[in-house]
Amino acid sequence: MKRFCENLNVSPAILGEHLKFRSGRETQNRFLKAALTERVSTYDVENPKKHGLPTDYILNLYDKWGHGKFGTILTGNVLVDPTNLESAGNAIIFKEGDGEERRSLFSQWAKNIKQDGALAVVQLSHGGRQTPVTVEQNPWSASDVQLAGERRFTPFGKPVPLTVEQIKTEVIDRFVFAAKFAYETGFDGVELHAAHGYLLAQFTSPTTNKRTDQYGGSIANRQRIILEIYDAIREVIPASTGFLVGIKTNSVEFQEQGTTVDDAKEMCQVYEEKGFDFVELSGGTYEKLAFHHLRDSTRSREAFFLEFAEKIRPVFKNTVVYLTGGFRTVKAMVEAIENGATQGIGLGRPITAEPDLPKKILEGSVASSIKNALDENDFGITNLVSNTQMQQMGRTTFQQAEQKPTYGISDFSDEATVQRYNEALKDYVVYMKTLAGENKPIHGVLVFEGVQQA
Ligand SMILES: Cc1cc2nc3c(=O)[nH]c(=O)nc-3n(C[C@H](O)[C@H](O)[C@H](O)COP(=O)(O)O)c2cc1C
Repeated sequence: MKRFCENLNVSPAILGEHLKFRSGRETQNRFLKAALTERVSTYDVENPKKHGLPTDYILNLYDKWGHGKFGTILTGNVLVDPTNLESAGNAIIFKEGDGEERRSLFSQWAKNIKQDGALAVVQLSHGGRQTPVTVEQNPWSASDVQLAGERRFTPFGKPVPLTVEQIKTEVIDRFVFAAKFAYETGFDGVELHAAHGYLLAQFTSPTTNKRTDQYGGSIANRQRIILEIYDAIREVIPASTGFLVGIKTNSVEFQEQGTTVDDAKEMCQVYEEKGFDFVELSGGTYEKLAFHHLRDSTRSREAFFLEFAEKIRPVFKNTVVYLTGGFRTVKAMVEAIENGATQGIGLGRPITAEPDLPKKILEGSVASSIKNALDENDFGITNLVSNTQMQQMGRTTFQQAEQKPTYGISDFSDEATVQRYNEALKDYVVYMKTLAGENKPIHGVLVFEGVQQA
């Protein structure tokens, strides 16, 4: 097993410090399990009310992360609208599908997350124009700016601009319903997904928001929908409950007319004043992905959005800030905190290879994450591999895995494994193309080796 760095030449102690949120809860350390879409919840074309039920794969997966010593664990994006999905197989919370079964599955999900002390936070999202056309031909958006190109060989439909009334009924009310559901099923909070080009980012970004009413134009107008969601959630779940409301937002977008770092800073200032418990800084959209180094200046410091975080950070006084994207070595994590760019460290792809990476780092037994024999700059392949590893984790419970969180996960630092995966990928590409050609959604992930399902 190869790592980015073998020698621990810096103390990890600072990573074990608690973070205190303004509405009261406290984390056991600075690590955040970033949202990673699972794509293995139910997708039932015959009975849409059964869409988005978490499966055993999800429960088992978080049984592993729930033993990894994270401070906070985010779910993958959980959708608030049953038709505007990021992908078939997303978990969904929606009033039309409410019931005992969904509630008991989400309660179990929260329990699995919290087993070794992590806070459990649901990431709430709405696909908007980034919904695959095979799931919804005419998704909602801020304006009718269609997303060009394809993802998983599937294009995107022409979006329908939401009316002011629909912003309330189709977006705000749905976010509030989902937040209340998360609260009632035992989660510690929600994170609004306003990054990566999904619906809330479609409102904040000038690329996709061409409105001339109170939801378009100035930064304040573009941000309005988010603040209205926040207020509406707090009306039913006040901060005095301790329930967290955070947000994932872009520190920058690189596509034409995208959100600039100055825009992002202005918006973050407002999140601070509004009372958000935390802000997780990220960047990029489907139009211009940014999960790799787009600038040489950040390469040696690992985190993709570090220089943007450094510019934004001074606005945060009571709101906790997390930075996600690119962290691989303990040294870079510690430096980012010591230099004041961030308080918390978000981890995505490294923790699908090693769900207990925070535990190992805090114990001082590793100096970095595993270094896969993959092109780290290729989000396409690293994303597929992460989903595959999550599916492998989901085949067994923690107990069935002999209490080893890494049990049954393929080691992609091994060249031979990568070669076999590339072979399997050829068949998977044919499968995806066939489904897309038949106008059918792609549900699930590339299933590869590992152990048999228990
Ligand atoms: C398989 C996979 C699924 C992802 N799903 C989500 C998601 O549901 N919500 C989200 O905000 N970001 C999602 N991301 C982005 C990650 O949260 C994270 O921001 C990104 O991977 C960069 O962090 P990393 O370099 O540590 O992987 C996903 C990334 C991967 C690889």
